[in-house]
Formats: sequence, structure tokens, C-alpha cells
Amino acid sequence: MSYAIVGFGKIGQALAHAFARKNIEVTVASRRTPEALAPQARAIGPTVVAKSLRDALEADTIILAVPFGEHREVAKILPSWKGKTVIDAMNALVPLEELDGLLSSAFAAKAFTGAKFVKGFNHLIAATLAADPIVEGGHRVVFLSSDHEDAIAPVAALAKQLGFAPVRLGKLNEGGALVHARGRIWGQLIFQDLFKKEQ
Ligand SMILES: NC(=O)c1ccc[n+]([C@@H]2O[C@H](COP(=O)([O-])OP(=O)(O)OC[C@H]3O[C@@H](n4cnc5c(N)ncnc54)[C@H](OP(=O)(O)O)[C@@H]3O)[C@@H](O)[C@H]2O)c1
Repeated sequence: MSYAIVGFGKIGQALAHAFARKNIEVTVASRRTPEALAPQARAIGPTVVAKSLRDALEADTIILAVPFGEHREVAKILPSWKGKTVIDAMNALVPLEELDGLLSSAFAAKAFTGAKFVKGFNHLIAATLAADPIVEGGHRVVFLSSDHEDAIAPVAALAKQLGFAPVRLGKLNEGGALVHARGRIWGQLIFQDLFKKEQ
């Protein structure tokens, strides 16, 4: 598996810390040049490599850590997203009406034709996501949901490798609704800083 994080702000950098902590290679990219991102990437760890957006999108698993309104700009870069898994770490604080009545991940997924879309890593604030997920003898939980059930297992395996305890919530409009923001209403699991003691 190859991994890229698109968006290298608070959440992108928090995730890069998680990869660096476990010496897992990850590409990071934003609209800025790789040269502009490189010092920050290097400061996080040697496995964090800045690339251009187009080069970063060669990874087979791509974590979206851009503001929700920017997801279409990222989607446009590839003519087809077939064979890619996209992990949606975004929260959309826009009214449900602006999402065609869909949950934000289902709405964003429409732009990424052919991709397998998994909602995950969106429910913790950046500072918590950046910190060691092994706390108080347990593992910090990440919630995963997707309409592509076969796509959850590899993302759960990645979450485990990073030290988190993955919890599968099923389809987006089922358990996944608990980790979505709708307008100003936060899903009940957003910002819940939970631990799982037994593995
Ligand atoms: N902050 C949190 O605690 C938190 C918690 C959970 C989820 N989230 C979600 O995570 C996402 C990112 O939030 P953030 O707080 O990390 O925001 P942020 O600090 O503003 O970072 C956003 C990043 O996206 C990049 N970007 C913007 N447009 C882009 C585009 N079209 N293509 C590629 N890169 C682009 C920006 O870099 P350039 O300007 O260089 O392109 C920047 O690196 C949001 O959807 C947010 O709702 C945030």
C-alpha cells in the first residue's frame, strides 16, 4: 500500500505525525510546491515526503485533509479514481440542503468517480490526532464508515498500524451518520475522545 495526505494544514500534519511515529512512508501535498512543504515534512520525520499534488495522487490510498469546499479541486486532478481508496477526514459545516440532502462523504464521493470512499480520522481535533494514540494503556479510537464495505478492512489495518483502535460503523448513512457534521449539528461521535482498552 502507498499513502498520501492531501492538505498539509492542521489535520494533514497531525496525520503525518502518526505515520512518522511508526516509520510508515507517506507523501504529503497541497497547492504549495513540494519545496515549500519539504522543511515542515522533514521536521515531522524522514518517512514524510513532500511531493506535487499530481505525484502524490499516484498513491493507492489518499487521505483528504483539505477544507470541504476544496474537495472538487482535488477530484478534478485525476480523470478517474478507479483503484484508489480515498479516506475522507473532512468535516463539512454546511447546511444539509447544500449537500443535496446527502451526508458530506456521500456528497464528496460523487466527485471522485470510481474511488472507494471511507470516512475516517475526522472525529478528533488535530492536536489529539497528532498525539500518540496509545494512552492510559489503551488505544485511541478512530471510527470508519463506507458504502464500500471491502474498503474498510485495509483502512482499519492502517489505523491499527498507526496505533489506533479502528471501530467500524458500517455504511455512511447508517453508523456513519454519527461521525458527520450537518450544518451546526455535530454527529454524536465527533470529538468523542474514546479509548479501547483491550485489543
Ligand atoms: N482542525 C481540526 O481540528 C479538524 C478536526 C477534524 C477534521 N478537520 C477537517 O480536516 C480538514 C482540514 O482541516 P485543517 O484544520 O487541517 O485545515 P487547514 O489547517 O486550513 O489546512 C488545510 C490544508 O489544505 C490545503 N489545501 C487547500 N485547498 C487545497 C486544494 N485545492 N488542493 C490541495 N490542498 C489544498 C492547504 O494548503 P495550501 O493552501 O498550501 O493548498 C492546507 O494545507 C477540513 O475538512 C476540516 O473540517 C479538521
